Amino acid sequence: MRVIIEKSASDAANFVAETILELVENRPNAVLGLATGGTMTPVYERLLAASQNGRVSFQAVSTFNLDEYVGVKASSEHSYRYFMDKSFFESTDIDRCRTHLPDGCAEDLRAECEQYEGLIEQAGGIDLQLLGIGSDGHIGFNEPGSSLSSRTRVKTLTKQTRLDNSRFFAAPEDVPYSAITMGVGTIMDARQIVLLATGKNKAIAVRATVEGPLSAMVTASVLQWHPNALIVLDQDAASELENVADYLTAEKIQRELLSQHNK
Ligand code: GLP
Repeated sequence: MRVIIEKSASDAANFVAETILELVENRPNAVLGLATGGTMTPVYERLLAASQNGRVSFQAVSTFNLDEYVGVKASSEHSYRYFMDKSFFESTDIDRCRTHLPDGCAEDLRAECEQYEGLIEQAGGIDLQLLGIGSDGHIGFNEPGSSLSSRTRVKTLTKQTRLDNSRFFAAPEDVPYSAITMGVGTIMDARQIVLLATGKNKAIAVRATVEGPLSAMVTASVLQWHPNALIVLDQDAASELENVADYLTAEKIQRELLSQHNK
Protein backbone atom coordinates (compact mmCIF):
# COMPACT_ATOMS: atom_id res chain seq x y z
CA MET A 1 0.00 0.00 0.00
CA ARG A 2 1.55 3.32 -1.06
CA VAL A 3 0.13 6.23 0.93
CA ILE A 4 0.45 9.63 -0.74
CA ILE A 5 -0.45 12.74 1.22
CA GLU A 6 -0.84 15.88 -0.86
CA LYS A 7 -1.22 19.42 0.53
CA SER A 8 -4.72 20.03 -0.83
CA ALA A 9 -7.70 18.22 -2.33
CA SER A 10 -6.81 19.80 -5.65
CA ASP A 11 -3.23 18.43 -5.54
CA ALA A 12 -4.57 14.99 -4.60
CA ALA A 13 -6.99 15.04 -7.56
CA ASN A 14 -4.10 16.13 -9.81
CA PHE A 15 -1.99 13.20 -8.69
CA VAL A 16 -4.81 10.74 -9.40
CA ALA A 17 -5.58 12.28 -12.80
CA GLU A 18 -1.87 12.16 -13.75
CA THR A 19 -1.72 8.46 -12.81
CA ILE A 20 -4.69 7.75 -15.08
CA LEU A 21 -3.36 9.92 -17.91
CA GLU A 22 0.05 8.22 -17.85
CA LEU A 23 -1.64 4.84 -18.09
CA VAL A 24 -3.76 5.95 -21.06
CA GLU A 25 -0.73 7.49 -22.78
CA ASN A 26 1.14 4.19 -22.45
CA ARG A 27 -1.87 2.00 -23.17
CA PRO A 28 -4.45 3.77 -25.33
CA ASN A 29 -6.86 0.83 -25.03
CA ALA A 30 -6.65 0.66 -21.23
CA VAL A 31 -9.58 -0.72 -19.26
CA LEU A 32 -10.48 1.74 -16.52
CA GLY A 33 -12.66 1.03 -13.49
CA LEU A 34 -14.39 4.31 -12.63
CA ALA A 35 -16.10 5.74 -9.58
CA THR A 36 -18.72 8.38 -8.88
CA GLY A 37 -19.11 10.77 -5.95
CA GLY A 38 -18.22 14.39 -5.30
CA THR A 39 -14.55 13.49 -4.66
CA MET A 40 -14.19 12.40 -8.28
CA THR A 41 -15.45 15.59 -9.92
CA PRO A 42 -12.02 17.35 -9.97
CA VAL A 43 -10.40 14.18 -11.33
CA TYR A 44 -12.82 14.07 -14.28
CA GLU A 45 -12.29 17.80 -14.86
CA ARG A 46 -8.55 17.17 -15.28
CA LEU A 47 -9.08 14.16 -17.53
CA LEU A 48 -11.44 16.22 -19.68
CA ALA A 49 -8.93 19.06 -19.94
CA ALA A 50 -6.24 16.61 -21.09
CA SER A 51 -8.61 15.15 -23.66
CA GLN A 52 -9.69 18.56 -24.93
CA ASN A 53 -6.15 19.93 -25.25
CA GLY A 54 -5.12 16.86 -27.23
CA ARG A 55 -2.76 15.32 -24.68
CA VAL A 56 -4.62 11.99 -24.69
CA SER A 57 -7.40 10.28 -26.56
CA PHE A 58 -9.94 8.13 -24.72
CA GLN A 59 -11.30 6.74 -27.99
CA ALA A 60 -10.02 3.20 -27.46
CA VAL A 61 -10.41 3.15 -23.67
CA SER A 62 -13.06 0.92 -22.07
CA THR A 63 -14.64 1.80 -18.75
CA PHE A 64 -16.55 -0.11 -16.07
CA ASN A 65 -18.14 1.81 -13.24
CA LEU A 66 -18.30 0.42 -9.76
CA ASP A 67 -21.98 0.73 -9.11
CA GLU A 68 -25.47 1.97 -9.95
CA TYR A 69 -28.62 2.57 -7.90
CA VAL A 70 -31.37 -0.01 -8.25
CA GLY A 71 -34.61 1.34 -9.68
CA VAL A 72 -33.17 4.62 -11.00
CA LYS A 73 -33.43 5.03 -14.77
CA ALA A 74 -30.23 5.82 -16.67
CA SER A 75 -31.88 9.04 -17.91
CA SER A 76 -32.58 10.26 -14.37
CA GLU A 77 -30.27 12.96 -13.04
CA HIS A 78 -29.79 10.76 -9.95
CA SER A 79 -28.34 7.81 -11.84
CA TYR A 80 -24.64 7.19 -11.85
CA ARG A 81 -24.88 6.80 -15.65
CA TYR A 82 -26.10 10.40 -15.82
CA PHE A 83 -23.29 11.56 -13.52
CA MET A 84 -20.68 9.86 -15.71
CA ASP A 85 -22.18 11.15 -18.97
CA LYS A 86 -22.27 14.72 -17.69
CA SER A 87 -18.97 14.76 -15.80
CA PHE A 88 -16.86 12.93 -18.32
CA PHE A 89 -18.13 10.78 -21.19
CA GLU A 90 -20.16 13.37 -23.12
CA SER A 91 -17.29 15.83 -23.40
CA THR A 92 -14.56 13.37 -24.47
CA ASP A 93 -13.92 11.35 -27.59
CA ILE A 94 -14.68 8.11 -25.72
CA ASP A 95 -16.76 5.56 -27.63
CA ARG A 96 -19.98 5.38 -25.60
CA CYS A 97 -20.34 1.66 -26.46
CA ARG A 98 -17.21 1.02 -24.47
CA THR A 99 -18.54 2.72 -21.30
CA HIS A 100 -20.27 0.35 -18.92
CA LEU A 101 -22.36 0.74 -15.81
CA PRO A 102 -24.65 -1.90 -14.32
CA ASP A 103 -28.32 -1.43 -15.29
CA GLY A 104 -30.15 -0.81 -12.01
CA CYS A 105 -33.49 -1.15 -13.81
CA ALA A 106 -32.79 -4.55 -15.39
CA GLU A 107 -35.71 -6.96 -15.12
CA ASP A 108 -33.46 -9.71 -13.81
CA LEU A 109 -30.94 -8.04 -11.50
CA ARG A 110 -29.07 -11.23 -10.74
CA ALA A 111 -28.53 -11.93 -14.45
CA GLU A 112 -27.45 -8.31 -14.91
CA CYS A 113 -24.77 -8.74 -12.22
CA GLU A 114 -23.49 -11.96 -13.79
CA GLN A 115 -23.41 -10.32 -17.21
CA TYR A 116 -21.44 -7.38 -15.81
CA GLU A 117 -18.79 -9.72 -14.42
CA GLY A 118 -18.67 -11.45 -17.83
CA LEU A 119 -18.16 -8.13 -19.65
CA ILE A 120 -15.23 -7.22 -17.40
CA GLU A 121 -13.67 -10.60 -18.05
CA GLN A 122 -14.19 -10.30 -21.82
CA ALA A 123 -12.45 -6.91 -21.75
CA GLY A 124 -9.40 -8.62 -20.24
CA GLY A 125 -9.92 -7.36 -16.67
CA ILE A 126 -9.46 -3.89 -15.25
CA ASP A 127 -6.05 -2.20 -15.56
CA LEU A 128 -6.73 0.57 -13.06
CA GLN A 129 -9.65 0.80 -10.66
CA LEU A 130 -10.42 4.25 -9.30
CA LEU A 131 -12.08 4.27 -5.87
CA GLY A 132 -13.58 6.78 -3.48
CA ILE A 133 -14.49 5.80 0.06
CA GLY A 134 -17.68 6.02 2.09
CA SER A 135 -17.58 7.55 5.57
CA ASP A 136 -18.02 3.99 6.94
CA GLY A 137 -15.06 2.72 4.88
CA HIS A 138 -17.05 1.17 2.03
CA ILE A 139 -15.71 0.86 -1.52
CA GLY A 140 -18.21 0.76 -4.36
CA PHE A 141 -21.32 0.03 -2.31
CA ASN A 142 -19.70 -2.80 -0.37
CA GLU A 143 -21.16 -1.88 2.96
CA PRO A 144 -19.77 -3.08 6.32
CA GLY A 145 -20.09 -6.85 6.59
CA SER A 146 -19.73 -7.48 2.84
CA SER A 147 -17.84 -10.64 1.96
CA LEU A 148 -14.27 -9.82 1.05
CA SER A 149 -14.52 -12.26 -1.86
CA SER A 150 -17.87 -10.93 -3.14
CA ARG A 151 -18.62 -10.42 -6.84
CA THR A 152 -21.01 -7.97 -8.52
CA ARG A 153 -24.40 -8.17 -6.81
CA VAL A 154 -27.23 -6.16 -5.26
CA LYS A 155 -26.45 -4.63 -1.86
CA THR A 156 -28.75 -2.86 0.57
CA LEU A 157 -27.42 0.56 1.54
CA THR A 158 -26.92 1.42 5.21
CA LYS A 159 -28.71 4.28 6.91
CA GLN A 160 -25.38 6.18 7.08
CA THR A 161 -24.67 5.80 3.35
CA ARG A 162 -28.20 6.89 2.44
CA LEU A 163 -27.77 9.90 4.71
CA ASP A 164 -24.35 10.75 3.22
CA ASN A 165 -25.68 10.50 -0.33
CA SER A 166 -28.92 12.40 0.40
CA ARG A 167 -27.14 15.66 -0.52
CA PHE A 168 -27.55 14.67 -4.16
CA PHE A 169 -31.35 14.19 -3.79
CA ALA A 170 -34.24 16.55 -3.04
CA ALA A 171 -35.09 14.70 0.18
CA PRO A 172 -33.33 11.99 2.24
CA GLU A 173 -36.22 9.55 1.65
CA ASP A 174 -35.60 9.77 -2.12
CA VAL A 175 -32.24 7.97 -1.81
CA PRO A 176 -32.61 4.41 -3.14
CA TYR A 177 -32.41 1.55 -0.66
CA SER A 178 -30.17 -0.66 -2.79
CA ALA A 179 -27.61 -0.66 -5.56
CA ILE A 180 -25.77 -3.01 -7.87
CA THR A 181 -22.09 -2.92 -6.97
CA MET A 182 -18.93 -4.64 -8.07
CA GLY A 183 -17.95 -6.98 -5.24
CA VAL A 184 -14.85 -6.60 -3.12
CA GLY A 185 -13.38 -9.60 -4.98
CA THR A 186 -14.18 -7.95 -8.32
CA ILE A 187 -12.38 -4.78 -7.24
CA MET A 188 -9.39 -6.73 -5.92
CA ASP A 189 -8.93 -8.37 -9.34
CA ALA A 190 -7.95 -5.00 -10.86
CA ARG A 191 -4.24 -4.82 -11.68
CA GLN A 192 -3.86 -1.44 -10.02
CA ILE A 193 -6.06 0.36 -7.52
CA VAL A 194 -6.10 4.09 -6.82
CA LEU A 195 -8.23 5.25 -3.90
CA LEU A 196 -8.79 8.99 -3.52
CA ALA A 197 -10.07 10.45 -0.24
CA THR A 198 -10.30 14.12 0.61
CA GLY A 199 -11.81 16.06 3.51
CA LYS A 200 -12.07 15.62 7.27
CA ASN A 201 -15.24 13.53 7.02
CA LYS A 202 -13.17 10.70 5.51
CA ALA A 203 -10.34 10.80 8.09
CA ILE A 204 -11.67 8.06 10.40
CA ALA A 205 -12.47 5.73 7.48
CA VAL A 206 -8.99 6.38 6.05
CA ARG A 207 -7.32 5.52 9.35
CA ALA A 208 -9.27 2.25 9.56
CA THR A 209 -8.37 1.48 5.93
CA VAL A 210 -4.64 2.13 6.21
CA GLU A 211 -3.77 1.38 9.83
CA GLY A 212 -6.65 -0.74 11.11
CA PRO A 213 -7.02 -4.50 10.93
CA LEU A 214 -8.17 -6.05 7.68
CA SER A 215 -11.89 -6.39 8.26
CA ALA A 216 -15.15 -6.89 6.39
CA MET A 217 -16.51 -4.09 8.61
CA VAL A 218 -14.31 -1.63 6.68
CA THR A 219 -14.22 -3.07 3.19
CA ALA A 220 -11.54 -0.61 2.00
CA SER A 221 -9.10 -2.25 4.48
CA VAL A 222 -8.84 -5.20 2.09
CA LEU A 223 -6.63 -2.96 -0.06
CA GLN A 224 -3.84 -3.72 2.43
CA TRP A 225 -3.79 -7.06 0.67
CA HIS A 226 -3.57 -5.71 -2.87
CA PRO A 227 -0.10 -5.80 -4.45
CA ASN A 228 -0.50 -2.46 -6.25
CA ALA A 229 -2.74 -0.07 -4.30
CA LEU A 230 -2.24 3.70 -4.06
CA ILE A 231 -4.05 5.63 -1.35
CA VAL A 232 -4.08 9.31 -2.31
CA LEU A 233 -5.13 11.76 0.41
CA ASP A 234 -5.25 15.43 1.18
CA GLN A 235 -4.06 16.60 4.60
CA ASP A 236 -7.59 16.60 6.03
CA ALA A 237 -8.28 13.00 5.05
CA ALA A 238 -4.86 12.03 6.46
CA SER A 239 -5.42 13.92 9.72
CA GLU A 240 -6.27 10.84 11.84
CA LEU A 241 -3.34 8.71 10.62
CA GLU A 242 -0.70 7.87 13.21
CA ASN A 243 2.27 7.39 10.92
CA VAL A 244 2.05 10.45 8.66
CA ALA A 245 5.76 11.26 9.00
CA ASP A 246 6.70 7.75 7.82
CA TYR A 247 4.42 7.94 4.77
CA LEU A 248 5.82 11.35 3.80
CA THR A 249 9.43 10.14 4.17
CA ALA A 250 8.78 6.94 2.23
CA GLU A 251 7.20 8.91 -0.60
CA LYS A 252 10.02 11.49 -0.68
CA ILE A 253 12.66 8.75 -0.89
CA GLN A 254 10.70 6.84 -3.53
CA ARG A 255 10.38 9.98 -5.70
CA GLU A 256 14.10 10.77 -5.32
CA LEU A 257 15.00 7.22 -6.34
CA LEU A 258 12.67 7.41 -9.32
CA SER A 259 14.09 10.74 -10.51
CA GLN A 260 17.68 9.43 -10.21
CA HIS A 261 16.68 6.33 -12.13
CA ASN A 262 15.08 8.42 -14.91
CA LYS A 263 18.17 10.68 -15.36
C1 GLP B 1 -20.93 6.38 -2.86
C2 GLP B 1 -20.26 5.56 -3.93
C3 GLP B 1 -18.80 5.32 -3.60
C4 GLP B 1 -18.13 6.64 -3.24
C5 GLP B 1 -18.82 7.26 -2.06
C6 GLP B 1 -18.19 8.57 -1.60
O1 GLP B 1 -21.24 5.63 -1.75
N1 GLP B 1 -20.87 4.30 -4.11
O2 GLP B 1 -18.17 4.72 -4.71
O3 GLP B 1 -16.78 6.39 -2.94
O4 GLP B 1 -20.16 7.52 -2.45
O5 GLP B 1 -18.66 9.65 -2.33
P1 GLP B 1 -18.19 11.15 -2.16
O6 GLP B 1 -16.96 11.26 -3.00
O7 GLP B 1 -19.31 11.96 -2.70
O8 GLP B 1 -17.92 11.35 -0.73
